[in-house]
Amino acid sequence: MTHYTQVGIIGAGPAGLLLAQLLHQQGIRSVVLENRSRERVESRQRAGLLEQNTVDLLRQAGATDRLDQQGLVHDGVILSYNGQRHRIDLAKLTGGSRVTIYAQTEVVKDLIQLRLNTGEPILFEAEATSIDGLDGNEPMIQYTHNGESHTLICDFVAGCDGFHGISRQTIPESLTTAYDNVYPYCWLGILAKVPPSTHELIYAYHDRGFALHSMRSPEISRLYVQCDVTDTLADWPDERIWAELQLRLGTVGWTLMEGPILEKTITPMRSFVSEPMQYGRLFLAGDSAHIVPPTGAKGLNMAVADTGQLFHALMDWYQNGSASELANYTACCMRRVWRVQEFSNFMTELLHHNPNKTPFEAQLQASRFNQLITSQMASTVVAENYVGLAAKRASEAQQSVNFHV
Ligand code: APR
Ligand code: PHB
Repeated sequence: MTHYTQVGIIGAGPAGLLLAQLLHQQGIRSVVLENRSRERVESRQRAGLLEQNTVDLLRQAGATDRLDQQGLVHDGVILSYNGQRHRIDLAKLTGGSRVTIYAQTEVVKDLIQLRLNTGEPILFEAEATSIDGLDGNEPMIQYTHNGESHTLICDFVAGCDGFHGISRQTIPESLTTAYDNVYPYCWLGILAKVPPSTHELIYAYHDRGFALHSMRSPEISRLYVQCDVTDTLADWPDERIWAELQLRLGTVGWTLMEGPILEKTITPMRSFVSEPMQYGRLFLAGDSAHIVPPTGAKGLNMAVADTGQLFHALMDWYQNGSASELANYTACCMRRVWRVQEFSNFMTELLHHNPNKTPFEAQLQASRFNQLITSQMASTVVAENYVGLAAKRASEAQQSVNFHV
């Protein structure tokens, strides 16, 4: 069967869902295609730290009712180096910016509910299999749903289908440049039924490896511990996880409260960027174009920032008949993407034990941490990046890419 819409959106993660809602508010029709079930999408555990820019855009989308009730607003963050703690006062150092702890899973649930309330199409277990006609005015997404093949003809395709989706692969390889960095360690993450032992997040370097204490609510803690790339969950019984967390997060006069572990997952650590983020009438947003290691908590925030940029560019087209913001999409995103890549890499290398590092590199790492403790300027740079730099609008970009419609 053939269907028509204005914007065909592949993927019901934060990027695709938010774009659909922002477009709906402006009367632009879209279809969201998601290859997983609703239950699966709503139960995937991801990170949970929102920058102010992210909260602002979710507010604009009308998606903050639960976030306002349940989100935990944090003024600061704690870094620890072998038990020596240093608090970064985010609000003070950035002129009042804060971060909000609210799980990505909950953001996704809220956006799905909003979409369902609009009555506009969101198809679960609908797999996009190819995208064609991107150099013309009527790109097409082929997809399967309920065992049948369908074609969705649209004005634009939003490739919000994550790192393993088809959108990025649709751009001819000869036109793309990919930048990739795989880290020699992973994160083992747990959800535990125990009140957080800290009011603010603790990111800890320890000679035995990194650990992070985050939270989901006053009753549920979220913790991570660095593990080896070859480790499996079988290598990490609950007792070992708590023992390592106690050691790595520990400091004099403080105890980590333990409780039943509800969930365990191992996540690889990778930095990846693919350029350009646009090919003809296909625009990538979020993980489909770039991923970061989770140390800076930027994955979701970058996906939301791309979405805001793409939304403005599409509205420039639909409301003003102008293609200039669409043409500048890659250039605008890339400035922010590379800043965030650098920060995520900095935080990752600062806080992890790299089994391959030389004694020289180990000294540099310690020296970087000392600089953070002793220099307000150094802490301010971290604070500014952590809370998120103000979004750069398309009009500020100096470069442009070829985009003909
Ligand atoms: N057809 C339809 N849907 C697809 C296809 C396909 N061929 N391929 C992938 N998808 C779906 C995935 O099932 C997923 O639900 O696209 C969605 C992409 O969502 P995310 O992976 O959440 O990506 P994004 O919206 O960019 O959000 C980025 O998610 O992975 C985290 O750390 C990341 O926080 C970041 C955020
Ligand atoms: C989380 O709460 O899951 C979280 C918080 C901060 C990070 C990564 C993950 O940097």
